[in-house]
Amino acid sequence: MHIVAIDQGTTSSRAIVFDDAGTIVAIGQREHEQIFPRAGWVEHDAAAIWDDIVAVIDEALAEAGIGNEDVAAVGITNQRETTMVWDRETGEPICNAIVWQDTRTQSLVDELAAEGGIRRFADVTGLPLATYFSASKIAWILDNVDGARERAENGELLFGTPDTWVLWNLTGGPDGGVHATDVTNASRTLLMDLRTLDWDDDLLEAFGVPRSMLPEIRSSSEVYGEAKGTALDGAPIASILGDQQAATFGQVAFDRGESKNTYGTGSFVIVNTGGEIVDSDNGLITTVAYRLGDEPPQYALEGSIAVTGSLIQWLRDNLGLFDEAPDVEKLALSVEDNGGVYIVPAFSGLFAPYWRPDARGAILGLTRFVNKGHIARAALEAVAFQTREVLDAVDADTGVGLQELRVDGGMVANDTLMQFQADVLGVPVVRPAVSETTALGAAYAAGLAVGVWEDLDALRAMWKEDVRWEPAIDEDERARLLARWRKAVTRTFDWVD
Ligand code: G3P
Repeated sequence: MHIVAIDQGTTSSRAIVFDDAGTIVAIGQREHEQIFPRAGWVEHDAAAIWDDIVAVIDEALAEAGIGNEDVAAVGITNQRETTMVWDRETGEPICNAIVWQDTRTQSLVDELAAEGGIRRFADVTGLPLATYFSASKIAWILDNVDGARERAENGELLFGTPDTWVLWNLTGGPDGGVHATDVTNASRTLLMDLRTLDWDDDLLEAFGVPRSMLPEIRSSSEVYGEAKGTALDGAPIASILGDQQAATFGQVAFDRGESKNTYGTGSFVIVNTGGEIVDSDNGLITTVAYRLGDEPPQYALEGSIAVTGSLIQWLRDNLGLFDEAPDVEKLALSVEDNGGVYIVPAFSGLFAPYWRPDARGAILGLTRFVNKGHIARAALEAVAFQTREVLDAVDADTGVGLQELRVDGGMVANDTLMQFQADVLGVPVVRPAVSETTALGAAYAAGLAVGVWEDLDALRAMWKEDVRWEPAIDEDERARLLARWRKAVTRTFDWVD
């Protein structure tokens, strides 16, 4: 028996086939276009993404040599917050998807924050007011796409994050598609009450979002419906988890205090806080970690860093420093150290722990000595410094010092980065044998729902360590590096008026 995880990410869509030992059997993957119509705007073509999903499902099943009857369950995981609105009769998106990194809604956010500040809705949602989350993006679409508000009020339009878009299309689209999301994705909209796990009427009113366009909020692990069409026809869709929560699940961080960091387009540290909703005083988000069927929800603190992997893509695509992203390591190793250079990649302002929309990116410490090797090195170091800062916030919020950091995502293949990460953290960094933990987590939650695995212990037993990086610099050196980094960060503030 096999489980198929569909991972609709920021830069690509993938279908990954797992066997019942949690081993990858086949992968189908397609990158989609990043659309930048103006500075600060980031869009995706939702229809093209659905076409990609159909194609990668075909590719993965063909490579695995299996058919729909061999699929015990399908799990969905996704880039979170990205906002899609479509016509419920035709299935056509009414505009491009507005991506989580997009900052076009800053003025609406400022207006709402004028009364009560950016933590105005934090008690209810666990989130600061920021352009990152879906609510202001939905409002923007309703206010700026011709006729959208009226059509939404007439019940003609549906909203979804990418999980909902994939589920609805996979289960028939206009022909009876299931319009649902899970608690982890709903917790990132700024519209859900963390305690009731339902849409909150005051928030819907504040953002002007009609309830009729919102999906039903379900658990992260249950059968939502069956695939109708595609190569998966008839297979049960049995999990939905936002990608960072899925990675946490794939790292089997089921117990309070367990954590992970995923290095993707951005980086996202998640620390499980069990059944407790922990408010952050230090710039972290409070979010849902997962909910299995009718069991009580498990919560988490999250340190969301907007730009890490996408900084390396920027060096590749916008500056042309190398041809392939992994080449950044070779370039970084062409120099002994950062040569005094620090890069603060505040491309969408700064997320955790600062939440400074007024910040913009900067390269500091330039001299005639500096070459592209130093820039590459500073970029890798920026990834590690940002992670250190959110883990400091976790320590401050929970009072529990981190013993080691479990890591996953594309950049964990970069040995230089992982060593530097251990150096600036002062604790070991550990990579598991399956570093595709996002897809694995979705597969685990789907398999649990249909009985492929009995319980969480069965999943815990499958986690295996692969590589461990130990810190190799002393405390003075660490303190010196961090002090410089913090100084560099403050230089990016107050740039946007
Ligand atoms: O919150 C945004 C996050 O879910 C995106 O993750 O890995 O697709 O960049 P990723």
